[in-house]
Amino acid sequence: MHCSIRRMLKEDIPQVTEIDREAFPTQWPPANYKHELENRLARYIVACDEAVESTEPYREPSKKPNGFISRLVQRLKCGNSPRAYLPGPDEQNIVGFAGIWVLSDEAHITNIAVRKKYLRQGIGELLLIQTIELAKGLKADIMTLEVRASNTAAQNLYYKYGFTQVGLRRAYYTDNREDGILMSTENVNLDSYQALFRQQKQAYEQKWHNQPPAG
Ligand SMILES: CC(C)(COP(=O)(O)OP(=O)(O)OC[C@H]1O[C@@H](n2cnc3c(N)ncnc32)[C@H](O)[C@@H]1OP(=O)(O)O)[C@@H](O)C(=O)NCCC(=O)NCCS
Repeated sequence: MHCSIRRMLKEDIPQVTEIDREAFPTQWPPANYKHELENRLARYIVACDEAVESTEPYREPSKKPNGFISRLVQRLKCGNSPRAYLPGPDEQNIVGFAGIWVLSDEAHITNIAVRKKYLRQGIGELLLIQTIELAKGLKADIMTLEVRASNTAAQNLYYKYGFTQVGLRRAYYTDNREDGILMSTENVNLDSYQALFRQQKQAYEQKWHNQPPAG
């Protein structure tokens, strides 16, 4: 199994829409990802699990984990090499995605979602890390988002990366009139934020890299 994070392509839209429906079943219609890919303010990334026969030569199992997350961590460390960032989309199983809209100095997270069967494996966190990197690369200063008041899983993830509540939008979600919590980071270019980000990234790499191999 070979995994990677790369930018979303139009060929990914059916799988991404499927994940969107699974993750946000009450939101209808789902976001129009074709429009999103054409939106010059938007940037989307996907996490892939390429469940195809590998053509790589067989290697003896190493002591290091070689699972899904371990490979994603490797991607994180290696940066966005063209080969790793743009593999053939027809060979890949997409397990999560994330998107931002960059408006002047603000990067707004529009979506972050992971396939149910892959939850709690560090994929959401990796997508968030990559999203923050992407926003910094696009010269954004702060990151913002809205999250349902009941969505503690997502809120916990955002708290880990320095997001705090900066507002409340009453009955923001039209399906059940649930409140939306508006969250924001401080300036991501400040030393204080950089220190937190580095620390969380290191903890992430350690956590998923030291995991014993499956089986
Ligand atoms: C939010 C979401 C993306 C997290 O993805 P994930 O891959 O399961 O998360 P990870 O395994 O990377 O976990 C990272 C952190 O998120 C938080 N978290 C994730 N799932 C959690 C849960 N069920 N309960 C509490 N905290 C949770 C934790 O802080 C966790 O860090 P920890 O492992 O050190 O405790 C995923 O739950 C999801 O797709 N939810 C549906 C879509 C959604 O609500 N998106 C957010 C819209 S604002």
